[in-house]
Amino acid sequence: MKNTRPWWLYISIMFFVVLLLTEYFVDSGNTLAIIEQPVLQFFMVMFLILLIAIALVIESVETVMFESLSKEAKERYLDSKSSSENEAWSRKMYTKLLGAKPIEAESEIILDHNYDGIRELDNKLPPWWVYMFYGTIIFAVVYLVRFHVFNDYTQEMEYEQKMEIARIEVEEYKKTAKGLVDANTVELLTEASDIKAGEKIFSANCIACHMADGGGGIGPNLTDEYWILGGGIKNVFNTISEGGRDGKGMIAWKQVLKPVEMAQVASYILTKINGSTPAQGKAPEGEIWKDPNAQ
Ligand code: HEC
Repeated sequence: MKNTRPWWLYISIMFFVVLLLTEYFVDSGNTLAIIEQPVLQFFMVMFLILLIAIALVIESVETVMFESLSKEAKERYLDSKSSSENEAWSRKMYTKLLGAKPIEAESEIILDHNYDGIRELDNKLPPWWVYMFYGTIIFAVVYLVRFHVFNDYTQEMEYEQKMEIARIEVEEYKKTAKGLVDANTVELLTEASDIKAGEKIFSANCIACHMADGGGGIGPNLTDEYWILGGGIKNVFNTISEGGRDGKGMIAWKQVLKPVEMAQVASYILTKINGSTPAQGKAPEGEIWKDPNAQ
């Protein structure tokens, strides 16, 4: 007995539906859940095997039952099977949704008038169109009640909510992406690991001119409260990044250091060097810097 049912089609459809559902329900960020969580791969393989097993069982049950039938019963069974299944499901669905009368039955719905041989059929509206139309009516009623009667929320509120979510996401992103800082966004880093990294960068690049204790040499004293180019994290970061005045010897370190490294060394200077007492401090240069945001 030949089975006309395309079991592989059902299996593939079921498989992909479940796959899509897992992607939808398992929270996996931007990557596919199936890649991020190997247990899902195992689950999907088991699911596929299960589907195939079910198909095999159904098919063999059918074969066994078929073999137990008498000769006429077999013929009747095959007859009914071919008439009901030969017409593929999709084809049936298509004509159903179209709702058109078959050509043989057109005489039933032809209208009386006849303009130069052009005649009109009184077809019913196709069901796909009618149901969509009902759908829009239901949508409109729900919308009307929800937004114009109960004033659920306005577009403006929706915009604000989305912006609020976006702001939180940006904050989260900035926390993990320290490399993004520039002179406008830099904040004083306080974590010990950052200060330690700043100290390393300072001893590797800066002590030739500023001395290990920041007392100053070719470069100015960094321990006092006098700054030539401005104090505070933003100014200090900017000086390190863009360099000092032309011809003074302080290069623009942005070509050498990453933004996060400049933030670290600037934080190191401000928390450890500034305010300490160097062995041989250079005389103050510049002016006392006061944080304009302090008062
Ligand atoms: C070649 C010598 C030299 C090196 C190396 C050097 N600096 Fe400087 N630095 C200077 C000079 C000179 C100035 C003064 C610039 C000016 O007057 O415009 C200065 C100024 C500064 C200032 C501003 C001080 C103020 O009073 O405004 C900071 C902050 C600073 N340097 C940090 C660093 C850091 C951090 C490094 C290492 C990554 C570094 N410097 C490496 C020579 C140097």
